[in-house]
Amino acid sequence: MNDYEVEVGDAVKDLIETVRRLYVENSIDAAVDHLKEAVANPAAIISDMPDFDCDEVLLYLDDHVTAYYIATTPQILYPPHEHGMIAVSAIYGGAETHIFYDRDGDDVVERSQVTFDAPNVVDLDVNAVHAISNLGERPNQTIHFYFGDLEMAKRHVWDMDGKNPRQYVHENYLNLSRPVN
Ligand SMILES: [Fe+2]
Repeated sequence: MNDYEVEVGDAVKDLIETVRRLYVENSIDAAVDHLKEAVANPAAIISDMPDFDCDEVLLYLDDHVTAYYIATTPQILYPPHEHGMIAVSAIYGGAETHIFYDRDGDDVVERSQVTFDAPNVVDLDVNAVHAISNLGERPNQTIHFYFGDLEMAKRHVWDMDGKNPRQYVHENYLNLSRPVN
């Protein structure tokens, strides 16, 4: 497939292509099950993922699947946002903390906070609103899959108080983030 945005090794390509195929030809559940197996035995993915000098890298994009490598910087709280499509985080190193929100009119209100240690797969439905953070000491290792073209999606990011929704733009996302405590 020609939809890779960067060079990645065969194990990473195989993971992305298998997840995409299972989602398109079978179901999201089949794709999630495959990711659960993959993160439980991550050696090949770890060795075939390049050493990126950046904590968020777009790996693959087409109409069905967007895949990002995300090594969340520790001790930063990122703002609540939606995806407008199913989103699945496959955590194969470290831990990722999710803060889940409920919708309250145009605003969102914090509901719960859960830390997922690797290996773990977190899947979020189309309407989910969450924020992520890495409360550990070192960047984590995750691949986030979005089942659609995330770059074209109409979706909101809120401020840290869950107010002032605006179209998600990555610059806004970074500007709204703040250190934990
Ligand atoms: Fe997200």
